[in-house]
Amino acid sequence: MSSDTTGATAESAAETVAALCEDRELVVVSNREPYSHDREDGEIAVDRPAGGLTAALDPVMQTVAGTWVAWGDGDADREVVGPDDTVSVPPEDPSYDLRRVWLDDAQVEGYYAGYSNQMLWPLCHLDTAKMNPDPEFWQSYRETNSEFADAVLDSTGRDPVVWFQDYHLALAPRDVRAARPDAFLAHFWHIPWPSWDAFHALPQYEQLLDGLLANDLVGFHTEEYCRNFLDCVEAATDARVDRGSRSVAHRGERTFVRALPLGIDAAEQAELADGDAADEFWREFGAKHGLDDGDIRVALGVERLDYTKGIEERLAALERLWEERPEYRGELTYVQKGIESRSGIEAYRTLQERVDAAIDRINDRFGTDDWTPVVQLTDHLPKPGLAALYREADVGLVTPVRDGMNLVAKEYVAAQTRDPGVLVLSELTGASEQLGDRAVAVHPRDLDGVADGIDEALSLSEDERLHRMADLQRVVHAEDVYAWLESTFETAAAIERGRHTVHAGTT
Ligand code: G6P
Repeated sequence: MSSDTTGATAESAAETVAALCEDRELVVVSNREPYSHDREDGEIAVDRPAGGLTAALDPVMQTVAGTWVAWGDGDADREVVGPDDTVSVPPEDPSYDLRRVWLDDAQVEGYYAGYSNQMLWPLCHLDTAKMNPDPEFWQSYRETNSEFADAVLDSTGRDPVVWFQDYHLALAPRDVRAARPDAFLAHFWHIPWPSWDAFHALPQYEQLLDGLLANDLVGFHTEEYCRNFLDCVEAATDARVDRGSRSVAHRGERTFVRALPLGIDAAEQAELADGDAADEFWREFGAKHGLDDGDIRVALGVERLDYTKGIEERLAALERLWEERPEYRGELTYVQKGIESRSGIEAYRTLQERVDAAIDRINDRFGTDDWTPVVQLTDHLPKPGLAALYREADVGLVTPVRDGMNLVAKEYVAAQTRDPGVLVLSELTGASEQLGDRAVAVHPRDLDGVADGIDEALSLSEDERLHRMADLQRVVHAEDVYAWLESTFETAAAIERGRHTVHAGTT
């Protein structure tokens, strides 16, 4: 199967962004860097982190020759920067600046593993019991955000366009705004924004909101997160919320709040899935795991090993399925591609142990000499290998207990280039706002419901699968990452035009 694309491409998105920035410098600020330098066997090697957003932003940065400010966490990162802590990237065709921010161990502990990932992450995913309110975390988060802001100010001139990414950097916009009142500041929050009731659990709720309200534009994946954010602002600050224009007036500035659902590079995913490298991978993988004889159905889960992804609940649902519907034993194999993540934090380490234990238990209970119910993949998978797994999976199991968007659901859809499978999607993901209608929607904590959802997915007629997948592919291709970039910058340009009109009208 293949789908029409809408026309936004890496090149067109880059041109749109360049036109909208005009002669203003574009600065992207994120915790993770687009390139890291590491020592391998004595040589310096360049690593390109796999994230889809980084891959999509890179050509834009190359076109506009902007600056990317990020944590330099590669072990050889310091060796390659100039005196201004900057290195030109990409290495093969240097065209934009990567300005590195250095974090010492205490900052990694306090700002990254601490406040970002043991306060904001559990809070925004509604797992407040996992919050760890160590005062040092907050202190470190504040200081590190100031360091990111200083790096932005250092590397730009008068009125840049600065685009902050995610929850690591909620306070930096306020510092940048103080020094550059004319800058255009935008922020994209990649995780859910909770209701006021939940957000209130954060002791520093006022400071966080004040930091974000220094932006001209704050983007979220869904309308629901936008509403939650406006509710928080209304309840917690004396800012004026205008629901009509979805904006906030605060300290003489106006912040617009918009839903801008992030997408993937769908064309690339489809191409990978259809390529020779994917075929080759699948031939080997299918033979190794006994999945190539056509009788065995495959369900697939792909994610960072994170407690928000509902992995334990999913395994429990599968266990119920094999328990109560023995016809699936020997017929349905679940492939779990879990990517180790944030292992410095205890909640992540214990999750890894529990997932391993659950997989061992299920395999002991139902496995036979010829069949392993759960195949766990821990090794690195090359992109075509992952695309092959997506393509061949009869069911894409995406069942987080909370997820801002979930791009795996979109990758699974884009990779269905042959006999289409069925997406089983948690209603607690941002992606369900766009894809929920044509997926089999499940509640991730309703274990019988998830088991039923898998059964339903495996029972749909070919015709039904084709129709559903064609609809899903239309959405995933039309609202891809390049369309997202274009609409983000078009939104920013409209706000900026409005700002100048207002100023012109009042002077
Ligand atoms: C989520 C966050 C990203 C983050 C990624 C990986 O998707 O929204 O900002 O980069 O997880 O997590 P890590 O802690 O390894 O950066």
